[in-house]
Amino acid sequence: MAKKRLGVGFVGAGFITKFHIRSWLGVRDADILGIVSRTEERAKEAAALAKKLNVGEAKVYKSITDMVADPAIDAIWICAPNYTRLENMEEIVSALEKGKGELIGVTCEKPLGRNVKEARAMLELAQKAGLLDGYLENQVFAPAVVRGKEIIWTRGAAISGRPYLARAAEEHSGPHMPWFWEGELQGGGVLNDMMCHSVEEARFMLTPPGAPRNSLTPVKITAHTSCLKWQNPDYAKILSLNSGGKTDYISRPAEDFARSLVEYRDENDKKLIVETTTSWSFVGAGLRLSMELLGPEYSLLINTLDSGLKVFFSRNVKGSAGEDLVEKQNAEMGLMPVVSDEESEYGYIAENRHMVQSFLKGKRPEENFTDGVNVTELLMTAYMSAEQEKTIVFPPPELDSFVPAVAKGEWNPKKS
Ligand SMILES: NC(=O)c1ccc[n+]([C@@H]2O[C@H](COP(=O)([O-])OP(=O)(O)OC[C@H]3O[C@@H](n4cnc5c(N)ncnc54)[C@H](OP(=O)(O)O)[C@@H]3O)[C@@H](O)[C@H]2O)c1
Repeated sequence: MAKKRLGVGFVGAGFITKFHIRSWLGVRDADILGIVSRTEERAKEAAALAKKLNVGEAKVYKSITDMVADPAIDAIWICAPNYTRLENMEEIVSALEKGKGELIGVTCEKPLGRNVKEARAMLELAQKAGLLDGYLENQVFAPAVVRGKEIIWTRGAAISGRPYLARAAEEHSGPHMPWFWEGELQGGGVLNDMMCHSVEEARFMLTPPGAPRNSLTPVKITAHTSCLKWQNPDYAKILSLNSGGKTDYISRPAEDFARSLVEYRDENDKKLIVETTTSWSFVGAGLRLSMELLGPEYSLLINTLDSGLKVFFSRNVKGSAGEDLVEKQNAEMGLMPVVSDEESEYGYIAENRHMVQSFLKGKRPEENFTDGVNVTELLMTAYMSAEQEKTIVFPPPELDSFVPAVAKGEWNPKKS
């Protein structure tokens, strides 16, 4: 008999796990029942948050294997750092193969892997274990993106023709933890960390409602990467201090700016363009996600910092630094936009609802590991283009074994 309620366990207890836990207030038919993390204290904190919000009696487990073995856990959300992806997935699959427990599905945060080889291994492991798989790309579930797509396609595109250009940008002033800044641990710089959102969201917008992913074929990619801010000695020093001396942007930087132009063909051989720009060198109120979709007689614009709610604090209000107004907040004074329900507006609630309902129905989620592999293929081709300073025809022959120079600690724009 099909299950009516899903027990969910999280791997990782950091920033994104807490976002997911808060989003669970808007998710039905599932409870957060488990957390595994590297540091037990952090896992306990995340479990306490789930209990406080009444979204599940989360237990802390010593290992992923122990969590899989608990019959209360039906699905696992992988939310640990990128460099632990494969080991996390291997442990899940190994526990299942040894008959320690049973699962319906697994989801994984972006990016699915640090390169194509890793992303493919994630997909193959899920398939080998017979697991349903969900790729956690929240932005294709963001209400403005979903509703905007629906309106543009049913009104503008139906009458005047399909959209031909999608622009997406994802910018903030830099990640919150030192491992994100390390090319080797994270898989790259901002291109890997944030362009994964932009290419997928833009591709989603350009795809007709209900059409499969392969209705658009990537043809060519042109990209550029730079380190505009964080390799300057004063800023490199901040990164070094934040990491106990480990992060060295003078000799081993990662890109803090990246752009790409992806050329697609649709089913009628019509040319379509995706233009993305991402940066860790944007100092504004906080995280800014922007999106444009353009067609023959219409356009769509989204900017998450154009929020309906704004507050003003005079220079006499000198409060402590926080992220209570917007993710990656940069100031507490003056006129500030507030994203009043980030869990909803960035897409986490709808994303988790979709994953839960798909798993309960025994269906593969619409955004799955195959999409995660496709995103990684686009990103790696973008790195190739930036490294070779030329347009790359997709798919390039060496894609499956390609590792960006930045992920090998070999990229330094100051030297070239
Ligand atoms: N969708 C989005 O917009 C979005 C936003 C942010 C992050 N993410 C993705 O989510 C993932 C996690 O990012 P984050 O920001 O949450 O990072 P984070 O704040 O550094 O948290 C990572 C958590 O994983 C734990 N961990 C480390 N190694 C582990 C292992 N081997 N097994 C289990 N847990 C382990 C850490 O333990 P400690 O407590 O000991 O450090 C920490 O609790 C990344 O892949 C990132 O790309 C997505």
